[in-house]
Amino acid sequence: MKNTVDYINEKTKNFAPEIGIILGSGLGEFADEHCDIAISYSEIPNFIKSTVKGHKGRLVFAVINGKRVVMMQGRNHFYEGHTMQEITYPVKVMKKLGVNTLILTNAAGAVNENFAPSDLMLITDHINNMGTNPLLGANDETLGERFPDMSEVYKKKLIALAEKCAEKLGIKLQKGVYLANSGPSYETPAEIRMARVLGADAVGMSTVPEAIVANYCKMEVLGISCISNAASGIGDSSLSHEEVIDVTNQSKSKFKELLSSIIAAI
Ligand code: HPA
Repeated sequence: MKNTVDYINEKTKNFAPEIGIILGSGLGEFADEHCDIAISYSEIPNFIKSTVKGHKGRLVFAVINGKRVVMMQGRNHFYEGHTMQEITYPVKVMKKLGVNTLILTNAAGAVNENFAPSDLMLITDHINNMGTNPLLGANDETLGERFPDMSEVYKKKLIALAEKCAEKLGIKLQKGVYLANSGPSYETPAEIRMARVLGADAVGMSTVPEAIVANYCKMEVLGISCISNAASGIGDSSLSHEEVIDVTNQSKSKFKELLSSIIAAI
């Protein structure tokens, strides 16, 4: 950990970001538009490379609306074969760099039939259906406690702040519960019916590990899902990664507008 943090601090001349953002599938463009310093994951000690199409794989630092921000342009996923500890390592690094607010973004399938592709959903809570937990193993007391409370992972005050920003911009927002599966296969229609019974509004393959670790590190978390498709079995179309990227591309301008306004308001 120390060599990672030291390397980044040296490269960025102690930039000391206050806000962290993890940009999901198709949403990386925000970091292209706000880039003061960029460091490829491949050159950062202990970081793993991103292998998914549509994910770039670099840490981008920028002052946005007066706030010092670090962005992950591309994240690592559990389905790539990395461990939970590996994919959440960057969150711990962000904490050590000084980040106290983390904005998690993703592309997700809608379980809630009132949601439409290209809607943005604020995550109010999550269900970890990945079958494992990133905090397994020896606990690092310098980061957090052994049994962290999870009663308000997605901070109500950040949700209210995001809603205010959206209202000012005339952007319609949905709110709901995000359920994470390990992937990489999309769900079956029966699994989506199960997710609905469990109380999920959206499904995806990310975000939950990072949210657990950020909450454990006492960071304040805001989660935004770009609804890219109706989940499996809703309607009659099949799912593809291309469709997910296409639809996310359609909603990215309102996503970027919202994100920029949230950063200003934090
Ligand atoms: N399921 C799981 N992950 C996803 C989906 C989906 O329907 N859409 C985008 N990511």
